[in-house]
Amino acid sequence: MALVNENYLKLQGSYLFAEVAHRVQKFKAENPSAEVISLGIGDVTLPLPQASIEAMHKAVDEMAHKETFRGYGPEQGYDFLREKIRDVIYKSRGVDIALDEIFVSDGAKSDCGNIQEIFGEDNTIAITDPVYPVYLDTNIMAGRTGLVKEDGTFEGVVYMPSTAENNFTPSLPTQHVDMIYLCCPNNPTGTTLSKEELAKWVQYAKENKSIILYDAAYSAYITEDDVPRTIYEVEGAKDVAIEFRSFSKTAGFTGTRCGYIVLPKTVMGYTKDGKAQALNPLWNRRHTTKFNGTAYVVQRAAEAVLTPEGQQQTKEMVGYYMENAKIIREGLASLGLTTFGGVNAPYIWLKVPAGMTSWDFFDKLLHEANIVGTPGSGFGPSGEGYFRLTAFGSRENTIKAVERIKTQLKL
Ligand SMILES: Cc1ncc(COP(=O)(O)O)c(C=O)c1O
Repeated sequence: MALVNENYLKLQGSYLFAEVAHRVQKFKAENPSAEVISLGIGDVTLPLPQASIEAMHKAVDEMAHKETFRGYGPEQGYDFLREKIRDVIYKSRGVDIALDEIFVSDGAKSDCGNIQEIFGEDNTIAITDPVYPVYLDTNIMAGRTGLVKEDGTFEGVVYMPSTAENNFTPSLPTQHVDMIYLCCPNNPTGTTLSKEELAKWVQYAKENKSIILYDAAYSAYITEDDVPRTIYEVEGAKDVAIEFRSFSKTAGFTGTRCGYIVLPKTVMGYTKDGKAQALNPLWNRRHTTKFNGTAYVVQRAAEAVLTPEGQQQTKEMVGYYMENAKIIREGLASLGLTTFGGVNAPYIWLKVPAGMTSWDFFDKLLHEANIVGTPGSGFGPSGEGYFRLTAFGSRENTIKAVERIKTQLKL
């Protein structure tokens, strides 16, 4: 009898986006002439930077000839890409990262999901609430949680509310936790943590021998100078933090697939008898056992992102989305709505009008303005009363959507 991993049975269905799709479909069927605009998706819409396109064409041609063809590459990524990551992303910010501390992958989702495999089953995890669902779900699958409770939270997980009341700055846990997931800039709230705040987490992690799993997938969207671009700008972070990065939102790679983990050799976990064990070799073992490398052509495209031309082109791309964010933010503010985020992230997190739930507001926005967004409650209990809009649409649709919200939404 093949037993199943019953932890999977604890998972909640992907209710959020399924329910959004269901409601939109129903609305469209009932209102066939309505032109629905989505500000709900977390996917980019602009094409790849020209530098990456040229690099990919060249790499494809190399694959066509016996002399330049490439088969399996190093599982950890080609040096040409890792050197660029080391220099352009880290050295430029005064952070020294060695090549063998960088592991190239097919994206941050896989990395954020897979990293928990090198940790003990009995670890307690802490997540912010609301949260990008991958951190929680992969730990449920691994058996690090109990069952779901009536309020939607899982037994055995420490939730750290991140709301307007605490200025989206979650408090340190009052009990001991082992693995702390932080996402900065944050999806869904679009907010960031200051260097001083991050320093508190680093301190907590040192004192508790915990590890910070730091998702910096949206780092390229930071515009304010005083927001750290990487957790390693915080002193001591190289002893306690693993950083996740992605080319997806940085350079339009959501369909091209490339990301990476930085795991400094100084980051330690512990055996049950208290012996320190570096995590870097464990991840190297995991990665080389289960992953055969990111496609050569894709790594060349990613390398091109980190050239001066690529950097300029991606800066323009990010600037385009951030202008959309500004249009949405200012449009909503002019209606008296309270918004957060949208300054250092492509997400605008708005407070729904008093007396409404996130889903009430979803229906109202869809029916009155024919705009689709994402109810905050879908990201965790503390997301209730909030709503996420994204800046990844076209300029034309963003302007049209905001105009409709201004003129058609009955507040
Ligand atoms: C916070 C966060 N981390 C990671 C990812 C996944 O990125 P990738 O496309 O590199 O898998 C996303 C994608 O939406 C995200 O929002």
